[in-house]
Amino acid sequence: MRSVIDITDLSVKELDGLLKTACDISENPEKYADSCRGKKLATLFFEPSTRTRLSFEAAMLELGGNVLGFSDAGSSSASKGESVADTAKMISCYADIMAMRHPKEGAPYVAAKSASIPVINAGDGGHCHPTQTLADLLTIYRELGRLENLTVGFCGDLKYGRTVHSLLSALSRYSNIKIVLISPEELQLPKYVKYEVLDKYGMQYVETTSLEDAIPQLDVLYMTRIQRERFDSYDEYERLKDSYILTAEKMQLAKVHMRVLHPLPRVNEISVQVDNDPRAAYFRQALNGKYMRMALILKLLEEARQGKQMPEIQDVITDELYCDNPRCITSTEQEIVHSFKCVNRENGIYRCIYCEAKRKRN
Ligand code: NCD
Repeated sequence: MRSVIDITDLSVKELDGLLKTACDISENPEKYADSCRGKKLATLFFEPSTRTRLSFEAAMLELGGNVLGFSDAGSSSASKGESVADTAKMISCYADIMAMRHPKEGAPYVAAKSASIPVINAGDGGHCHPTQTLADLLTIYRELGRLENLTVGFCGDLKYGRTVHSLLSALSRYSNIKIVLISPEELQLPKYVKYEVLDKYGMQYVETTSLEDAIPQLDVLYMTRIQRERFDSYDEYERLKDSYILTAEKMQLAKVHMRVLHPLPRVNEISVQVDNDPRAAYFRQALNGKYMRMALILKLLEEARQGKQMPEIQDVITDELYCDNPRCITSTEQEIVHSFKCVNRENGIYRCIYCEAKRKRN
């Protein structure tokens, strides 16, 4: 079935359609109150979440549907060793659509390949988080009235922040977007995102360690939490955790129309004094997430009704290259066939279809 694993699974035209539907839902909620009557959404959360899971559930309930699922891997059969593929097949018997969050990169893609219902990636490890991006796009659009001609700053943990990776991918498809990457050296954006997104689509970007220097030029400041759970060393986390704190004083350096976004949860990277600033859009962003998830559920259920399938990834080789990324789903599920897609034929560059780890083939 047609699933959404990566934000680029949706074309710009489809994104525009979802934005339009989400705006209509927020203005006329009663029109949609019965749209999913009799349908069930399964939420499979193998990793903690408040907003994403509850906003998926609220989305389905407001569409008149029902929800089932779990919010803790320990209470599912994964704790008995069940594979993601088997879980997905089984859930397909009970629900009409599923949203999956998993600590291993590529797990929702494995689920989508086995399921007979649409799968939505609700965050896979440090990889991507397409529905947060839908919330981000709607927020930028509603707050600033456009998705083009913007200077967008990303601040904090750009290495492990999956929401950053997905939003950059989405923005690469809109015109005249300038990117400012603000992070400590240790938490810079991964090279694969620089090559496969920023360079590939010719996006202008600069890297800096200073939030104060960057803030005056920004239209959007996307703050992120330092992702403690993805660090190998606790000391390293302790050293980096307070790298950036957005305060009311720093906000004085920003443009009057700049908007502050944050996928939340915030730890202490935005001072609570900033919440009263009309430019702080992060709680409105959380509400926008519900509208966009409603729009996406409607779209995928309609496509499932029409029998629309997920497109096959082209140029894939199997059993030839091996993925040794410890965060990839292939590291824990032995039965998965290691598969790589060609991204640069001339130089023999391949990427794991699950986690995008790079390999060279001679
Ligand atoms: C984000 C996530 O899970 O990646 N949260 C969310 O979905 N709203 C950001 C984070 O956890 O820092």
